[in-house]
Amino acid sequence: MEEATVQQNSQRLETKPGAPQFDNLLAWHTGQLFDGLFAWYAEMRRHPVFYDSGRESWMVFGYQDVKRVFSDWQTFSSRIPHPPDQTDFTQSLNFTDPPKHRSLRSLAQQVFTPHRVEKLAPRMTAITHELLDRVVEQGQMDFMHDLATPVPIIVIAEILGIPLEDREDFKRWSDGIVTFDPTALQAMADYFRDLIGQRRGKPRNDLISDLIAAHEGGEKLTAQELVDFCIVLLVGGNETTTNLLGNAILCFNEYPQAFEQLKHEPSLLPLAIEEVLRYRSSIQAMQRMTITETQLGNQMIPPGQIVTVWLGAANRDETQFEQAETFVVDRNPNPHLAFGNGIHFCLGAPLARLEGKLVLQAVLERLPNLQIDPTAALEFIPSSDIHGVKSLPVLF
Ligand code: HEM
Repeated sequence: MEEATVQQNSQRLETKPGAPQFDNLLAWHTGQLFDGLFAWYAEMRRHPVFYDSGRESWMVFGYQDVKRVFSDWQTFSSRIPHPPDQTDFTQSLNFTDPPKHRSLRSLAQQVFTPHRVEKLAPRMTAITHELLDRVVEQGQMDFMHDLATPVPIIVIAEILGIPLEDREDFKRWSDGIVTFDPTALQAMADYFRDLIGQRRGKPRNDLISDLIAAHEGGEKLTAQELVDFCIVLLVGGNETTTNLLGNAILCFNEYPQAFEQLKHEPSLLPLAIEEVLRYRSSIQAMQRMTITETQLGNQMIPPGQIVTVWLGAANRDETQFEQAETFVVDRNPNPHLAFGNGIHFCLGAPLARLEGKLVLQAVLERLPNLQIDPTAALEFIPSSDIHGVKSLPVLF
């Protein structure tokens, strides 16, 4: 049935001259060639929606189509299949649909409030300065290792209420979790189960205790939902924010006049951060699964199909953004899709934006001559979904 339709579609596309090729995609991500990815996107946007038989997924690149997939949850489900042995984290809010998603999200919003985020600003600044103090005399550092990676991990550990003596383990598991290392995921899930048990008896002033206490229509989160929620904050929040910071430095390196302008007008930082998110989106691609047959672009997609939305391509769509391939430091308005759209819009966006602003502000103030080490060979994270460099040697 559906399979036959897909086969026909894919054959039709594969025999078409100039049909999109994915063979070089990973190569683009592993070397300096990364920017070839953006040229590839430009090419792909000319084939708005098509089926890729290698990846067994429909591919969506244009802004309007990507936005529709994000916002039309009735058609494009977030309940994508997981390996059968993976039990933790698969019920977290990013992998559920309404009505389940609605109640999880509403519970999460009760505790992950703008007030809680804003209250952390002085700590975020202090953490940033402590990390900068360690390197400032050296005149050089690895921006990712020394600053961009630790800040979001320390911040989320403080929000969750992870005791100081557990921070080393917490950091190690967080590092493992972003690569979906099953051992790290398991260790972290067990750790949270234990911590939740402790907080049940003795609540403290932290997010875990508030989550345990939160109610929605008389319902509370189950033990598994509590664990999943803690993990989604790490998986969703750490590497993305780390790469937002690193990608900002890549943008400033490519557009030194933007860096200069920000030094004189730091009030432009919030706009600059939105432009970094658009121009070099931390997450480049996400997936959904069709529930019903639907038309997208010029294609009919059967139910039960995986759909990959390339938000990194949508964010450079010329039909939506003027000068889409240029970093415009004060672009406004900037309706990018780097945080998604619709009911799953990033819950941590206010936190990521605040961290971005405070860390980059400190960098502008204390390291005004920062530049990427011209002798460094930059290597991108080998993933088609995540955009960022593995390490970023800088001089100042
Ligand atoms: C620059 C940093 C970030 C980027 C680019 C980013 C991006 C995204 C995107 C694209 C989604 C939509 C997922 C979907 O539609 O399936 C999302 C959802 C989510 N993000 Fe973020 N994120 C960032 C930071 C954070 C932080 C700091 C946290 C929390 C600590 C966080 C927590 C979440 C959660 C819980 C969801 C799921 C929301 C839902 O399904 O209702 N994110 N994020």
